[in-house]
Amino acid sequence: MPVTIGIPVPTTVNHVPERDAKVIKILLDTKIITIFAAAGRKRADSPRLSRMERNLLTHNIIQMRRKIVAGNWKMNTTVPEGRELAEALVAELPNVPADVQLIIAPPFTHLCSAGKAIEGSAIALSAQNCADQAKGAYTGEVSAAMLKSIGCGYVILGHSERRQYYGETSATLNAKMALALENGLKPIYCIGEKLEEREAGRHFDVVKAQIEEVLYTLTPEQMSQVVVAYEPVWAIGTGKTATSEQAQEIHAFVRKTIAAKFGQQIADDCSILYGGSCKPSNARELFARADIDGGLIGGAALKAADFIAIAQSY
Ligand code: 13P
Repeated sequence: MPVTIGIPVPTTVNHVPERDAKVIKILLDTKIITIFAAAGRKRADSPRLSRMERNLLTHNIIQMRRKIVAGNWKMNTTVPEGRELAEALVAELPNVPADVQLIIAPPFTHLCSAGKAIEGSAIALSAQNCADQAKGAYTGEVSAAMLKSIGCGYVILGHSERRQYYGETSATLNAKMALALENGLKPIYCIGEKLEEREAGRHFDVVKAQIEEVLYTLTPEQMSQVVVAYEPVWAIGTGKTATSEQAQEIHAFVRKTIAAKFGQQIADDCSILYGGSCKPSNARELFARADIDGGLIGGAALKAADFIAIAQSY
């Protein structure tokens, strides 16, 4: 049962699970909580956090709208290459603003070794997908419980490549979403329109339906665990990025659509990432927008220097 506790900046701390309330009280007494509250402020005036503070944030002692830069490696790199990439990111971590949460989403085969490489660091581990069944005779599938047991904190769900090439529907995604949440994984739920849908002026309708058909089935507590990623399909892997105006317009609409069902507070606390040809040269302009809380990065996440440069764009 979530409880809300009073802190100096109450809008940044909400829906704290009861089991964490004691920790929060200690943090309040020791004034650490004021540091968390500051981290939830708009990015321009966020102070740098120490490693200890960053670790506490990573472990979700409290929730707030976070700046996130997540790398979706898709079906790229061998296991040794993936480990090397993860190690390079850990080495560069001190050069990343402490209030930016880095997440890597390697292929299933890499989760163990890449997970080991980032162990003890503030980088979080995500899977790119999970099964729509809890367990059993489903050859080739990987369950949410398995992902949790290997140290994943997140799972990407509803990526357009899965919708397009593997026939994932809202019904499939509802099942995956429920299993992810039951197993303590935070879903990174991807939405976005195709080129013909944008050209027909249907992009708002498409995104609204993707939100309503999947996210509207959640409870407010479940919704507060979800990260949303807006990835216009026409911008993915094409080198054609949405302008920051186009992205901001949709992000604000996404937040409004979430608020209509779950209330303003949950919508304000939800991190909404942009994805689609995001790179070091355009990240700064995108991330400067009020409703863009970071990026879900494909191609540019495969080079440590580019991924880190994107994370430094705040
Ligand atoms: P690109 O950054 O390669 O366009 O891919 C974006 C993406 O699909 C991330 O999930």
